[in-house]
Amino acid sequence: MYLTSKEEMALKGEYGDAQQIAYRILYAIGNGANADRLMDTKTSHISGVNYHNIGDAGLQLLEDMAKTARFVIPTTINPCGVQVSPPIHLNFKQDLYEKQERILAAFAKMGSRGSYTCIPYEYDNVANMGDHVSWAESSAVLYGNSVLGIMTNRESGLSALASAITGKTPHYGLHLEENRRAKEWVLVDMPLKDEVDYGILGYYIGKNFKDTVGIVGLRAPTKTQLKSLSAAIATSGPMGMFTQEEQVPTSSYIHFGKEEYSATRAILDKSEEGQAILLGCPFMGYNELKHFAEALTGKRFTKPTYLFTSHSVYGSAAAEGIIVSIEKSGAKVVQDACPSLSYIPEIIGATKIVTSSTKGSFYMAASSKVAIELLSLDEIIRKYTA
Ligand code: F3S
Repeated sequence: MYLTSKEEMALKGEYGDAQQIAYRILYAIGNGANADRLMDTKTSHISGVNYHNIGDAGLQLLEDMAKTARFVIPTTINPCGVQVSPPIHLNFKQDLYEKQERILAAFAKMGSRGSYTCIPYEYDNVANMGDHVSWAESSAVLYGNSVLGIMTNRESGLSALASAITGKTPHYGLHLEENRRAKEWVLVDMPLKDEVDYGILGYYIGKNFKDTVGIVGLRAPTKTQLKSLSAAIATSGPMGMFTQEEQVPTSSYIHFGKEEYSATRAILDKSEEGQAILLGCPFMGYNELKHFAEALTGKRFTKPTYLFTSHSVYGSAAAEGIIVSIEKSGAKVVQDACPSLSYIPEIIGATKIVTSSTKGSFYMAASSKVAIELLSLDEIIRKYTA
């Protein structure tokens, strides 16, 4: 891979250890992917923030990097394993707070924005169509590439960190127009009624395709449905982008109908009566909270209910009275903590969880060994409020 003389010098350590480590990471990835060069990247979004995911080794690495590394482009980071501030609603262990705060302090020292979110495209790291960025949260990568038209590979926490330190990313993959066109197709020939159905389709697509896939047969999906589709594709496979197509241009395609739907749903949904409701994987956005608050008017949840969002979204929703409206229903709104990888079921003592998220179903079943009841938001309100 070609390097400019300045990049060569950084790789040799002329600009310090942090730059050298970051360039080594990007150089190794670029060479492995046959990239021709490095390119400028406008923003970074880093995963690997939740202490449950990175542990003491990750914390140590971040604190070491923070001694000298500084971010040179706008950078946001993923959700935490606890709600750090204010520490309310859920009874997280004290040492978890301390370790999570050290992780956030290391990122802040390097220059990250004070936002902990898996929907960076809402408020915290807004990118425009055609922007080249380095994002690591897979659900945001799929949504960004496929719905917003931004251009990013599916970065790891480490490669996004390296991009934040250098402002560079290898020029390959979804930064190239030719890789953003569908190479395989799926024909959806059943109606999809809500975000859960889109999630089931996404999980099926992620399992069965690797390259950019063209989806034929979607009928004007909403933003919530596209978020669900994106997150689910990212959950079950390595793909970084889908396109929506009018028709299949070839006789070779995969069919998604009732049979595929039922088989996929059976993997994720155990359909048992849930003991608690967890919502917001990916985090709920402003409009989703608003819609939810309106739908809850005059209703109260009959099971413990927790919604998850970022403090940026929370702040805007609180200013409009939306949070107060939601909490009148008995639901609690948690900020900045990931519902699916923070062992929330253990904290609230539930072994059966209701959720509208296919991504959340997969991760909560895997990490907390809970049985999932998968229902759309509207179905949850109908079944679990009085
Ligand atoms: Fe976000 Fe956690 Fe789900 S980071 S996408 S809420 S697994």
